[in-house]
Amino acid sequence: MTTPRVIDPISLQGEEELDVSLRPHDFAGYVGQDKAKAGLAIAIEAARKRREPMDHILLFGPPGLGKTTLAHIIAHEMGVGLRTTSGPAVERAGDIAAILTNLQDNDILFIDEIHRLSRPVEEVLYSAMEDYCLDIIVGKGPSARSLKLDLPKFTLIGATTRIGLISSPMRDRFGSTYRLDFYEVDHIEKILQRSARILQVDLPSEAAQLIARSSRRTPRTANRILKRVRDYALVKNSGRITEAVVRATLKLLTIDEIGLDEVDRKILYTLITQFKGGPAGLSSLAAAISEERQTIEDVYEPYLLQEGFLQRTAQGRVATVRAYQHLGLTSQKPELFVP
Ligand SMILES: Nc1ncnc2c1ncn2[C@@H]1O[C@H](COP(=O)(O)OP(=O)(O)OP(=O)(O)O)[C@@H](O)[C@H]1O
Ligand SMILES: [Mg+2]
Repeated sequence: MTTPRVIDPISLQGEEELDVSLRPHDFAGYVGQDKAKAGLAIAIEAARKRREPMDHILLFGPPGLGKTTLAHIIAHEMGVGLRTTSGPAVERAGDIAAILTNLQDNDILFIDEIHRLSRPVEEVLYSAMEDYCLDIIVGKGPSARSLKLDLPKFTLIGATTRIGLISSPMRDRFGSTYRLDFYEVDHIEKILQRSARILQVDLPSEAAQLIARSSRRTPRTANRILKRVRDYALVKNSGRITEAVVRATLKLLTIDEIGLDEVDRKILYTLITQFKGGPAGLSSLAAAISEERQTIEDVYEPYLLQEGFLQRTAQGRVATVRAYQHLGLTSQKPELFVP
C-alpha cells in the first residue's frame, strides 16, 4: 500500500462527502469542459423534445476531472432518475440483470470504472444497450432455452480513466464519447472560489491563483488543497487565508509551485539519473521508485505527459528538457537542447 497523497486525483477514503458537498448540480455551476458541455446540452435538449432517452454516453479522462459530477448533472437536466454502480461492484450477469430490470423508463444508469466489468456482465449489457432487452438462458443442458425480456428504455453513462481497456463491441454501443481534459488554470480558480463560498471561507484571488497553479489542473486536487489551506489558516492565522498561508501549506504538503509532489519529482529524477533520461519501460521505472505501475500510469503520468515533462515512446518513457530544467539538472544528451 502506498500512502495517499494530496495530489492524488483519485478520491481518498472518506472523501466522498467533500466531493458531494462541492459538486455542482447543473451546467451553470459546472466550470469549463466547454466542448463536452456544448455537445451534451444539445443531446439533452433533443432527447427532451423527442421525449426519448438519450443515446448511451461514454465519459473518459483522468481521475478527478468531473465525470461522476457530469453524470449527475445530465440526470438532473433531463429530469430523470439516476442509478449508479461501478465495474468492480457488478460481479455476475445476474447482478446487472437485476439492476437493469429495476430501472424506470428514461432512467440513467451510471457505471463508473466501466473498463472493469467482467466479460459475462458486458455480454448482458450488449443487448440491453442495443435493443433494450435481456437475453437470458433458463435451465441447463438440453432443456436450456433462451428467453427475451423487455427492459425499460434507459441511458447508460459509462465513465473510465482507461479508454484503451474498453472492448470494442462495448465502445461501439455508445452513441457519443466525451473526453474530459485537464482544466485551464483560471477555470480551476473559479472552481476554488465557488468551493470557498460553499465552505464559507474568504479566499483572496492571489491565494486562489496560487492554489490553482499547484492543483495539476484537477478540480478534486484543487478542492483538497483548499481544505488543507483552510485548516492551516485556522490553526496558524486565525482562519485568515493569505498567500503566505497557501505557500506554507503547500510546503507542508511537499507540493511545488507547479503542482508536482515528491513522487512526480522522484519519477523524473530516477528517469534522468538511473536511466540516463530514458527510454525506460514503465515496469522498470515503477520498480526503481517502488510505486505500482498502475499508480504511475493513472495518477502521475497523465499530468506529466500533458505538461511536457515526460514523453511516451514505443521504447518507453523519456524525460524532456523541461524535466531536466525543473529539477535543475543538466542533460547528458546535448541534442535534447536543440530547439
Ligand atoms: N467542472 C467542475 N466544476 C466545479 N467542480 C467540479 C468540476 N468538475 C469536478 N468538480 C469537483 O471535483 C470533484 C471531483 O469530481 P468527480 O467526482 O466528478 O470526478 P471524476 O472524474 O468522477 O473522478 P474519478 O475518476 O475519480 O471518479 C467533485 O466533487 C466536484 O466538486
Ligand atoms: Mg467518479
